[in-house]
Formats: sequence, C-alpha cells, structure tokens
Amino acid sequence: MLTKLYKKPADRYSRELAKSRLAEENEASAANSNVNDETASLVLDETASSTPAVQAPDTPPVPTFNRQAKLLSHLDRIVEWRETGITAPVMVVLDPTFKCNHRCPGCHGLMGQAYDTIPIERIRTLVQELAEVGVRSMPLGGGGDPSCHPDLAEILQITHDAGIETGFYTNGELLKQPVIDTIANTCEWIRISLDADGPEIHQRVHGASKNAFDKVVRNMERIQAARKKSGKKMVFGAGYLVRPDTMSGMYGAAKLCRDIGLDYLRIRPFFGYDNKPLCNEQEADAIVQELERCSTLETDSFSVNSPAHRMDWLATGDTKVQGVKCNIHHFTTHIGGDLKVYLCCHTVGWEKYCLGDLSEQSFSEIWYSDRRREIFENINYRDCATPCSMAAFNQVLSLFDSPVEHNNFL
Ligand SMILES: C[S@@+](CC[C@H](N)C(=O)[O-])C[C@H]1O[C@@H](n2cnc3c(N)ncnc32)[C@H](O)[C@@H]1O
Ligand code: SF4
Ligand code: SF4
Repeated sequence: MLTKLYKKPADRYSRELAKSRLAEENEASAANSNVNDETASLVLDETASSTPAVQAPDTPPVPTFNRQAKLLSHLDRIVEWRETGITAPVMVVLDPTFKCNHRCPGCHGLMGQAYDTIPIERIRTLVQELAEVGVRSMPLGGGGDPSCHPDLAEILQITHDAGIETGFYTNGELLKQPVIDTIANTCEWIRISLDADGPEIHQRVHGASKNAFDKVVRNMERIQAARKKSGKKMVFGAGYLVRPDTMSGMYGAAKLCRDIGLDYLRIRPFFGYDNKPLCNEQEADAIVQELERCSTLETDSFSVNSPAHRMDWLATGDTKVQGVKCNIHHFTTHIGGDLKVYLCCHTVGWEKYCLGDLSEQSFSEIWYSDRRREIFENINYRDCATPCSMAAFNQVLSLFDSPVEHNNFL
C-alpha cells in the first residue's frame, strides 16, 4: 500500500489522494443529499454524487491538461448555455474515416466494424459550416485512424485556414513526410498512441505487425524534426494505455519519448463499458508506483501525467468519479466517418444517440434540432463509458447547474 503523498503537479496521481478525495465526496454527498434534487432525476445508478468535486490543485497542472481552466476559458458559451439552454459547440471532433491499419483488441473505436470514409468534397463544405456556427476547434478522432484518410493533409490545411484549431491522435505508423510537414505547420498538437516500450507490448496492444513499433518511433523522430523546422508551436505528446499486462513498458516508453524530445507522455487506464474495475487493488498499487517511477524522468520540458478521475477509477473501481449529469455535450460533439453526428465520442455508431445525418442536413440544422434536444434530455447513463473521458468537464459544469443562495456574499 502506498503511504507517500506526492509533492506533485496536480496532474501527477496519488492513490492515497484518490481515496481521501472519494471519502470527502461521500461525506459531502451525504450532507447534501436533501439539497440537490436534480441528480435524483438522472437515469443513473445510486452512485450519483450530488456534490461534484473539483479538486483544488497544489500547483498548477500542465496547461494542456488543465481541463477546468480550458472549459472556463469559454465563459461566453457557458453563459449563453445558462441563459438560453443552448450554445454553439466549442469543439467538434471529426472522424474522417472509420478505417484503421491496426487491430487493437481493446479499441474503443469502431475497429474492424465499419470502414466509412468522408469524401474530401463534403469535408470542405463541412469545415465552412462549422466556422459559420462558431466552432473553435476540430480535432480529428477516432472511430479509426486519421492517417488512413487519403486527404489528411488537405483536411488539416483547410481547417487551419478556416481559423479552426486542429490536432489529432494517431497510431503513427502510416504518416509520410509531406503529411508530417503539413502537421507541423497546421496542428496545435499531435498525440501518438504509443502504448508500449517495444514491439512485444506494442503488438499485444495494437495487434499490428512486428515492424510497426519501429516505424512509429521513426515517425516520432520525423515529427520532432519537422516541428523544430516549422516556426509554429505544436505540442507533441504520446499516449500510454495501461493495464496490468502493459505496465512494465511505461518507464521505457517515457524514456523513449523524453529522449526523442516529446513534451509529454500521458498515461491513462484502458476503460470499458461494463462498470467493472480494471484490476485488483494490488495491481492498481503497482501501476501507481510505476507511475511515480516514471515521473523521475520528468524535466523542465518533459512531463509524465495522468487524468486524475480515470486513475481514481483504476485505483478504487468506484464509478462515483463520474456521477454527475452530462452537460458537456452542449459544448462538444462528434462526427463519425459515416457523416452522422453523435452525442459524444463514446456513443459513436449508436442510432439512439445519432443527432442527425450530414449527408442530408447541414451541421447547423442538426445542432439546433428538436431531435438533438430529445436525445440529450433522455441520456441513459448506463450506456456511458466507465469512466467517461468527459467527467472532469461535467464536474465543472455541474457547478453552474447547482442551486445557489446568497451568491453575493463571497
Ligand atoms: C479510438 S483511438 C482513434 C485514434 C487513433 N487510431 C489512435 O489509436 O490514437 C482514439 C483514442 O482512444 C484511445 N483508446 C482506444 N481504445 C481505448 C480503450 N479501450 N480505453 C481507453 N482509451 C482507448 C486511444 O489511445 C486514442 O487515444
Ligand atoms: S489504432 Fe486507434 S482506431 Fe486503430 S484499432 Fe487501435 S485504438 Fe482503434
Ligand atoms: S459517455 Fe457521453 S453522454 Fe455519457 S456522460 Fe460521457 S459524454 Fe456524456
């Protein structure tokens, strides 16, 4: 059992902190159980917490991952949502294709189930529609891998030229030099889903060929060289999905990323949809300890970080970490490779959470439609991911949704 509390940036994770955080939430939840009737109406199980915990950090977290601050920087949209019940999305994630060259057994995308690809002609008009609505970023995401779209470079360029910020996750294997140069000149960030320290774990997690890991590493070196050459500041990171049988590669992956010159390695637990813990207590302790060892590799220009709420879930198996009403769908949505707009990244491919079809309607028609309202008013929280990657945002938004008295007495 870990006894040491970290002297930490807020994004560094501590199991003991997680436990005390959840204990505090439970206490507060019990104390307020008669105050917040709203959560009682959620189609959520009894783990719904009526008092969201937004943890005050000891020191400022890595800016890229300061989710609370990022959301609050869109106060104009939050105010509009509170006053009118609706606002334009800040971010729209686009899956340009559902195709992927990898076969990760734990993929939460549509790996192998769908291959739809959006023609570049529709992406050109779509980007204009999003700019007109006031969308501020359009990252490329993941039913598949963005690098499998034949016009990736053009997509990045037209998005950038329309004044919409972009960036993307990729397994990194297929990127070729001209595209890498465009990435360095157009993207705000790129994150390689590395998930391994060498071919063995990489093959286990990505189901790719034996050579894939080395190709990914070579491309990471190319991206680093291209971003040095370009005058644009692009944040360059890697991701590491962890579970007991992949934890041994965390340290080597962190070292590799640091040595190539990346800005960070983001370590996150795999999530599932079955509400079950990922591992037992001993394994969770071992992962957190390994995370602490990885943090010794940090420098002024390289960080190792983890999302606290997802590590809370890993460490405790407690779904309470996400037990607040979902409001983040007012600020972000997801367009699949099938040109359908979905409530969020976790509901891509579900007809019941399909807000509309961009092959028949404009984005604006879908966003301001009655169908969208009906869908978000009837979310069944049992359908949600465990834990939802948006939980930190929903916790902030629940503060705006809570009754408040004597607000002028600070
Ligand atoms: C579905 S992938 C699509 C983009 C790209 N193909 C990739 O793998 O980065 C989008 C993100 O989901 C993450 N992801 C995939 N399966 C996951 C799982 N079971 N649990 C948590 N994250 C997962 C990946 O690491 C990646 O960051
Ligand atoms: S690389 Fe990404 S989209 Fe492809 S199978 Fe793996 S997680 Fe899924
Ligand atoms: S899975 Fe989707 S609908 Fe459910 S809480 Fe998360 S963002 Fe909201």
